[in-house]
Amino acid sequence: MDSDAATSSNPSGCGIELGRPDLAEYQPAEMPSRRDRCRSDLELSTRAFTWSALVTSSLLPAYARADLAFERGEGAWLTTTAGETFLDFGGGIAVASLGYSHPHLVAALTEQGGKLWHTSNLFQIPQAERLARRLTDVTFADYVFFTNSGAEALEGAIKTARKYHYVSGRPERFRILTFEGAFHGRTTTTIAAGGNPKYLEGFGPKAEGFDQVPFGDLEAVKRAVGPATGAILIEPIQGEGGIRVAAPEYLRALRALCDREGLLLVFDEVQTGVGRTGKLFAYELSGVVPDIMAIAKGIGGGFPLGAFLTTREAGKGMTAGSHGTTFGGNPLATAIGNAVLDVVLAPGFLDHVALIGTRLKQGLAALADRHASVIAEVRGEGLMLGLALRVPVNDFAAAARAEKLLVIPAGDNVARLLPPLVIGEAEVTEALARLDAACRSIAPQPAIAASVGGALS
Ligand SMILES: Cc1ncc(COP(=O)(O)O)c(C=O)c1O
Repeated sequence: MDSDAATSSNPSGCGIELGRPDLAEYQPAEMPSRRDRCRSDLELSTRAFTWSALVTSSLLPAYARADLAFERGEGAWLTTTAGETFLDFGGGIAVASLGYSHPHLVAALTEQGGKLWHTSNLFQIPQAERLARRLTDVTFADYVFFTNSGAEALEGAIKTARKYHYVSGRPERFRILTFEGAFHGRTTTTIAAGGNPKYLEGFGPKAEGFDQVPFGDLEAVKRAVGPATGAILIEPIQGEGGIRVAAPEYLRALRALCDREGLLLVFDEVQTGVGRTGKLFAYELSGVVPDIMAIAKGIGGGFPLGAFLTTREAGKGMTAGSHGTTFGGNPLATAIGNAVLDVVLAPGFLDHVALIGTRLKQGLAALADRHASVIAEVRGEGLMLGLALRVPVNDFAAAARAEKLLVIPAGDNVARLLPPLVIGEAEVTEALARLDAACRSIAPQPAIAASVGGALS
């Protein structure tokens, strides 16, 4: 089909239907050239964004989206289609590890994109081999399996743990202990693992095999271990749950319990991984080494890429034919993953993350002191930080947005700060100033605070 035929029912040629009556006012007066058509359609899509989002978006309305659309980004800065600039301390939910338009990532994408995108896992993939080798060289793991997302990485990790017990002659040990406040993805299995009733409701019977215990309660874990328990799955720092940090001694106790009971310890480092905490992986903070680990988000720097990593022993059941994916680990994704590692593993990079994270955390602590009626507590490690709030988190995120700063709401009424790992002093200073302004704009007025009877004290 030639391109004109392809667009004959759509005069814009750029995928925007000009024929809708509500959009008639936005139509150019004369039919412009194809190039100009595209330019004016971009403008059209910008102007129509609010309209389409509110009235006739063809996207399944599964998200409550902010009324912002971004057109380009550089470093930690994003520019909307309307030309406004925002400082992004959400990083696409911990994904934009190197920020936007990082020259090394753009070069890797362009170079591999011009050669070969996809071949399938029926063939050798040198880029995936290299990325897997580099990951095993710097972690506890012996093997890596690449996926397209975090939830898929978790699915693979869960299957690996169950298969380990199956091939060890203990098929009954398929149950996995997980934690209240956890988030492991949105597939039918990972919503069961996460256990959040809001995400489970309406999707049929909860997938069998997950037992939840309160986060941080060792005795509850011990009580929950039974003859069918095969693994413990935990985020070293809960992200969606509200930047809740598992104490190192708690993780050490879980490791000891697993060793004593013959259980596998599985870490979900989808959000904490790839430098986010100032270490390559958060397990290094406690020194507690898992048997299996799921990663995603930061490893692709914005390109969909995840993985699960396993020791040889824990992965012994995952033989040829036991698991698979069409796209996972394709040449384009893994070329970009290698480019991310080039930067994150460069000497001094992780020290920079730790240092700038400390600087940000200190600034946030000072902010919390100044605005005690807004911020109750500062949590987290490295550049995975959270503000536990005394005002509703969505209101706070909106107040920050009004100051052109993006933060991400999480559970426990926490605003998450997950900026690109490449931010410097200037971005930290700017973010603190914008957060200060947001706090001032949202702080309860003394008269109101008094009338709610000391609830803010
Ligand atoms: C800790 C954790 N695990 C798993 C996931 C699921 O990842 P994805 O959304 O890529 O499926 C997320 C996503 O936020 C996460 O934070």
